[in-house]
Amino acid sequence: MIRELVPDDERQAIAAHHDLLDDDFDFLPTWSARQNWEAYIERMAEGRSGEFVPEGWVRSGLFVAELDGQLVGRVSVRYELNDYLSEVGGHLGYGVVPKFRGQGIATQLCRFALAELGSHGVDSALVTCDKQNAASRATIIACGGQIDQNRPSVEENGGNTKLRYWISTRG
Ligand SMILES: CC(C)(COP(=O)(O)OP(=O)(O)OC[C@H]1O[C@@H](n2cnc3c(N)ncnc32)[C@H](O)[C@@H]1OP(=O)(O)O)[C@@H](O)C(=O)NCCC(=O)NCCS
Repeated sequence: MIRELVPDDERQAIAAHHDLLDDDFDFLPTWSARQNWEAYIERMAEGRSGEFVPEGWVRSGLFVAELDGQLVGRVSVRYELNDYLSEVGGHLGYGVVPKFRGQGIATQLCRFALAELGSHGVDSALVTCDKQNAASRATIIACGGQIDQNRPSVEENGGNTKLRYWISTRG
């Protein structure tokens, strides 16, 4: 099941956040241990509805994958692109808890995000990954990604190369 965060997710979501820090990936974007959990999920819900979008951000949603009562992954969906997202970040970003990798969860999260974008009027989604991230690259290709012909890659600050793919949300 792929859904938004709920109050009961606190313990597992924070554990997943810590599990992914070694991958330099935030399971819970902008989360801080100092913030009350209910306030955090409310802020995420407001970010999705557009009620509260921080300066420099775009409207976005955070969704988690639950399998047999366990939080196993997440995807964030950006309903619009700003300058940074249209170069480097793209429309969506997923991460899977290490012990649940290799079971198709990222592929399901990516497909879910594409359907979500499609239902909000985005026909083609930009999805990027680090050049050396073979699993993410395979996920994008499994979901129908086509390399951007005009701008196949971009250098991030710090010299990291991101590959840029487009995926139709229309299947
Ligand atoms: C990238 C990531 C999300 C993949 O999650 P996952 O649930 O293991 O991926 P899936 O099981 O859906 O596999 C997707 C594809 O990747 C391939 N794959 C999985 N692990 C792989 C690996 N270590 N090396 C190469 N390919 C791999 C699978 O075979 C599959 O390809 P296929 O459809 O051609 O068989 C996960 O490794 C992760 O969370 N990494 C850290 C965060 C991150 O890098 N996020 C992406 C930011 S762009």
